[in-house]
Amino acid sequence: MAFINSSVVEDIKLRNDIEQVVSGYVNLKRAGSNMVGLCPFHSEKTPSFTVYTSEQSFYCFGCGAGGDVITFIRKIENLDYPSAVEFLARRAGIALELDRNADKDSNRRRRVLEMNRETAKFYHRALFAPEGRKGLDYLLGRGLTMPIIKIFGLGFAPDSFSALTTHLRSKGYTDSEMSSAFLCGISQKSGKAYDYFRNRVMFPIISVTGDVIAFGGRVMDDSKPKYLNSSDTPAFKKSRNLFALNYAKSACSERLILCEGYMDVIALHMAGFKNAVATLGTAITAEQARIIKRYTKSVIICYDADEAGQNAAHKAFRLLGEAGLECKIIKVEDAKDPDEYIKKFGADAFANLLTKSRSEFDFRLDSIMANEDSSTGDGKIKILTKAVQLISEFSGASQREVYIHKVANMLSLSPEAIRHDVEENISKMKVRQKKDEFRKLMTSSEGYGDRINPDVARNPRAAKAEEAILGILLLHPEYMPQMIAKGKLPNPSDFFTEFGKKVFSLMLDLSTDGFNESMLGESLTPDEMSRLEKIKMSRRQVGTNTTEILLDCIKTLVDAQRKNNRDIADIIEEKRSRNN
Ligand code: UTP
Ligand code: MN
Repeated sequence: MAFINSSVVEDIKLRNDIEQVVSGYVNLKRAGSNMVGLCPFHSEKTPSFTVYTSEQSFYCFGCGAGGDVITFIRKIENLDYPSAVEFLARRAGIALELDRNADKDSNRRRRVLEMNRETAKFYHRALFAPEGRKGLDYLLGRGLTMPIIKIFGLGFAPDSFSALTTHLRSKGYTDSEMSSAFLCGISQKSGKAYDYFRNRVMFPIISVTGDVIAFGGRVMDDSKPKYLNSSDTPAFKKSRNLFALNYAKSACSERLILCEGYMDVIALHMAGFKNAVATLGTAITAEQARIIKRYTKSVIICYDADEAGQNAAHKAFRLLGEAGLECKIIKVEDAKDPDEYIKKFGADAFANLLTKSRSEFDFRLDSIMANEDSSTGDGKIKILTKAVQLISEFSGASQREVYIHKVANMLSLSPEAIRHDVEENISKMKVRQKKDEFRKLMTSSEGYGDRINPDVARNPRAAKAEEAILGILLLHPEYMPQMIAKGKLPNPSDFFTEFGKKVFSLMLDLSTDGFNESMLGESLTPDEMSRLEKIKMSRRQVGTNTTEILLDCIKTLVDAQRKNNRDIADIIEEKRSRNN
């Protein structure tokens, strides 16, 4: 049973133009009748990600990701098929009437979210109860005000193994639900649930839609671990959320401040910088960068002043830049992090620091200069080599020109010499990149090491015939009923690979009430859908006379299968005669 009928899926696809949807995630440029950009699913420097507007599909020649707009959303938003369809329906303002209870995943998600909200209220109440006095004293002692404590919904987890679990049980939640939400652990001995967060001040993590999705809990002294965080749950992925983005989202359209810690963000908001967010105890991910891109044009990275913080800032630069965000960095001086800085020097000093934010180039050049001695010839050469490499990484020629002059001035060299080195370095890099990408393309298109369809290597000829059949039928679904009527279609069991069998039998199932390729997504993974896109693509390139080719390929496939059966029959026969 399909979760949603094919005409509704068609409608949703019609109202979500793939070019517009993809543009929300990828910087697309026109190339003939198609659009190209850097693939969001693998890391590349030259664009091999293509959007085919007339076919309403996408394909990446680098990593083989491909499909329709639904597959794109499944992959990029990390959603299952029904959720991706819902996502696009919502985007297009189409009301879907779904049987929510039939969808087990979203039901589980809903329970976790309700339980989290109940828990956040419980912790918040506890902060103002006598047992939470030490939590409240701790937060006030760190300079937080009552209003900011309330805005962030901070709380206190009592020093007890059963306070929260008892409360949640009374609200009808089971131990297994609590444990799936990482609110409790399960005791190995008794099999009973116990509170996971104990004797900690609690920071609820709230999604941009206002749901409480997770918690971080801090000890009130120097004991370890300093913070405990919820692990990923059915309703939460660390790598896809940012602390305080729910507040910052309406204040960050011009720029957003990215820091490392919960306390930094809270201190910044309290000081009036309501555009501050932080990652959730991990380095920033490409997914987070894309999410940030939805809300702002530029990011100011303000990480801790120590070496770890500065290295992390450097990585964040790269990732945010790749997502198409303009990035700047500031480093707090005489304080370990923004929280301490504001406490020591005040909000005005921080605002002043913001005006002194440096570009990635300046930041990285400074760190190159700091590590070498520019007064010696040797040191100068080392700086020059690194600076040339750094400049080469920027794609704009006029931007490079500015940097070339800057470095020339600093090292008292002629810009011509540096420009020459940069150009030489860039052409070397290009050759290397081409080779790399070509090698990847070649290894990925061999049947060997094929994860999606590992059977291909066993009989490439039969597999080719199979792919041609699938490709033609996917491009011309109208052939299906004709061929079925004439009894010309093979059986799924004639297909040689498991993948081919699976796809073809799904197609037959769906063809009973009007085949619609998108509906295959209900049973196939995004990677499998990508494979189908690739198969269609290679079909499209050879073109014409498709019915004849189709019949030829069916014959090849059936013959190959028969031969295979005969081989097996021969072997059995031979064995039998030997045994006699
Ligand atoms: P920090 O140690 O800089 O935290 O770690 P902070 O927020 O500034 O806290 P204070 O000022 O010491 O109270 C930065 C972030 O790394 C994660 C948390 O998300 C924290 O906010 N972290 C840190 C953990 O998840 N676990 C830890 O044990 C430590
Ligand atoms: Mn701190």
